[in-house]
Amino acid sequence: MVIKKNKCNLPDLFSCTICVIGLGYVGLPLAIEFSRVKKCLKTSKKLNRKIIGFDLNKKRVEELISGIDSTEESDEESKKEFKSITFINDKNADINADIFIISVPTPIDHENNPDLSFLKNATELVANFIIKRDKITSPIFIIESTVYPGTTEEICVPIIENITGLKYNKDFFCGYSPERINPGDKNHNLTSIVKVTSGSNSETASWINDFYGSIIKAGTFKSKSIRIAEAAKVFENTQRDINIALVNELAKICKTINIDTLDVLNAAESKWNFLSFRPGLVGGHCISVDPYYLTYVAKKNGYTTDIVLAGRNLNDGMSSWVIKEILKEATKKKIKISNSKILVLGLTFKENCKDIRNSKAIDLIKILNKENNIPYIYDPFIKDTNKLKNFDFKFLNRSPLLHKDKYDIVIIATAHDEFKKINSNIWSDILNENYIIYDLKGIIPRCLNPLRI
Ligand SMILES: NC(=O)c1ccc[n+]([C@@H]2O[C@H](COP(=O)([O-])OP(=O)(O)OC[C@H]3O[C@@H](n4cnc5c(N)ncnc54)[C@H](O)[C@@H]3O)[C@@H](O)[C@H]2O)c1
Repeated sequence: MVIKKNKCNLPDLFSCTICVIGLGYVGLPLAIEFSRVKKCLKTSKKLNRKIIGFDLNKKRVEELISGIDSTEESDEESKKEFKSITFINDKNADINADIFIISVPTPIDHENNPDLSFLKNATELVANFIIKRDKITSPIFIIESTVYPGTTEEICVPIIENITGLKYNKDFFCGYSPERINPGDKNHNLTSIVKVTSGSNSETASWINDFYGSIIKAGTFKSKSIRIAEAAKVFENTQRDINIALVNELAKICKTINIDTLDVLNAAESKWNFLSFRPGLVGGHCISVDPYYLTYVAKKNGYTTDIVLAGRNLNDGMSSWVIKEILKEATKKKIKISNSKILVLGLTFKENCKDIRNSKAIDLIKILNKENNIPYIYDPFIKDTNKLKNFDFKFLNRSPLLHKDKYDIVIIATAHDEFKKINSNIWSDILNENYIIYDLKGIIPRCLNPLRI
């Protein structure tokens, strides 16, 4: 890494102060990694950085100060780093940082349009921190939240200019570096995934690329512009959504011709260039949200997308389709849904993670409620049921396999490792003689005749 002459008056790469705003699934690991790495991975030069973690949620900050990460994504090693990070909750604090990184939520509203309220609010906070700074170098503002192309420069930069009176690309600089972490997945974490970077001019882009390159083992990809980096992020997730929609459609076709979808996929996967995807529910706050950011920017610029929303709609309808399949089977087996004992295993939006935001397993339960059934639910990752609102359920604190109660219908909605380890004899212990198992994740042995997508 060659450190070039610094025309933009950017801060010192090796001894800067970094403030991460929004300490959730994305922001906290980032703050931890900046704190943990003590030598630049590219130059081996000593890093003497100060890390500040800011979050508006007082409880979150108090917990982090006392060493608790409620997302349970931090291991013991990472938690040791908490002591080296200055956690702040006060929006009037003097945050004398060089780099401000925003990692706040970017959800959609009830009409599936981007909800940038958290991002705008966080940008206003950054502007106010910048005004109070006591530094001679220019501040750098980086967004990590997922946004549609154009957001950083069209929405956030004007907010900073208006509040601070500073000029973009003269007095302050900015960048976009999307996060690609996969919570619950210990193999793909912040530092093992190539990080896309970008900056508001070539010097800033190189600075930001070196900045992330100093901590990311897998390396970085310097994108040609902020807009390209923004578009790449939403497109990655849109591509995944569409591919899953395609196999979900295949699953529906397979049902009509009475063949097993996974058998078809296994056969097709023998071709060298076949892409492997599995059918299933697509929830969470990335894959099921980001395509709307892409269609929003397309529409804003006069283009109506052809396939993005088709895939989205198909994936969104999978929970109702699954319940319809169960109802058909229940009629065949003379099981009355309203009277039956139903167990839903796994409620989080993905395996081995405690995040329930936009979980489609919850949609299954809501639909069962409409069929006058209150199912039992068990998820080893959920300890606190306070966030489970607007639907009826009976929550099991311990594995149903320990209770040995029998159920008429068992739905495997999320493939937590705990469920994958269960063998077929044990599954039989919790099934009534006349039963239905709907296995959304393909983990139940075929000898139990599970229904599958
Ligand atoms: N979670 C993932 O797997 C993942 C992966 C890639 C990208 N992303 C994207 O990263 C962004 C953050 O996602 P997340 O999952 O970390 O969200 P999160 O909800 O886990 O965390 C966001 C944090 O920001 C805080 N916050 C909200 N508004 C704030 C403000 N104005 N100032 C300071 N703090 C504020 C919240 O209190 C919360 O602690 C989103 O755009 C998301 O789409 C998430």
